Amino acid sequence: MIEPTIELKVVDRNNWGTCIRLKLKEDQTKFIAPNLYSIAQSKVEPNLLPYAIYANNEMIGFTLIDSEPDPKDLCHWIPRFMIDACFQGQGYGKASMKTIIEHIKSMPNSTAIRISFDPDNDSARALYLKMGFMDTGEIEDDEVIFEMRIVK
Ligand SMILES: CC(C)(COP(=O)(O)OP(=O)(O)OC[C@H]1O[C@@H](n2cnc3c(N)ncnc32)[C@H](O)[C@@H]1OP(=O)(O)O)[C@@H](O)C(=O)NCCC(=O)NCCS
Repeated sequence: MIEPTIELKVVDRNNWGTCIRLKLKEDQTKFIAPNLYSIAQSKVEPNLLPYAIYANNEMIGFTLIDSEPDPKDLCHWIPRFMIDACFQGQGYGKASMKTIIEHIKSMPNSTAIRISFDPDNDSARALYLKMGFMDTGEIEDDEVIFEMRIVK
């Protein structure tokens, strides 16, 4: 399969309406907060940057990236990541995560990336393992924490 061209665009007044209408499969809604909630959160926690994910100029997903390293572990967190249900299972998750990792790598002083998810979220686990994340063995708020060390 030809890898899609993925672009991250900051969520702004022009695209937030589309972003909050992105859909998940019904059994996935328990795994992630609604995009509307994440966008609201980014307004009161301005270190959290909301990005719409585009493939070939069409919005296919959403992510929230912490632009500041966690003072505790100096990791950059990816608090949210989702691909619209219509686009799932076609390699967009992998391609998007690759772009997100490159984006974080380009941030100054980035040393590692952390992501947490519900232990029952098999798709997320498989995807993150494929991308090179490793299980830290740590659990926070009932979620497992995976980490990727950054090599520059
Ligand atoms: C997790 C998620 C982002 C994957 O997106 P996607 O576009 O379907 O992923 P891809 O098509 O690139 O698949 C990547 C890998 O994920 C795994 N995967 C995807 N769908 C899967 C499924 N239904 N069951 C098990 N594994 C699955 C596979 O390992 C797959 O690799 P493969 O194609 O080589 O087999 C998507 O399912 C999603 O948005 N889920 C709801 C939100 C969520 O749970 N986010 C993560 C927690 S914050």
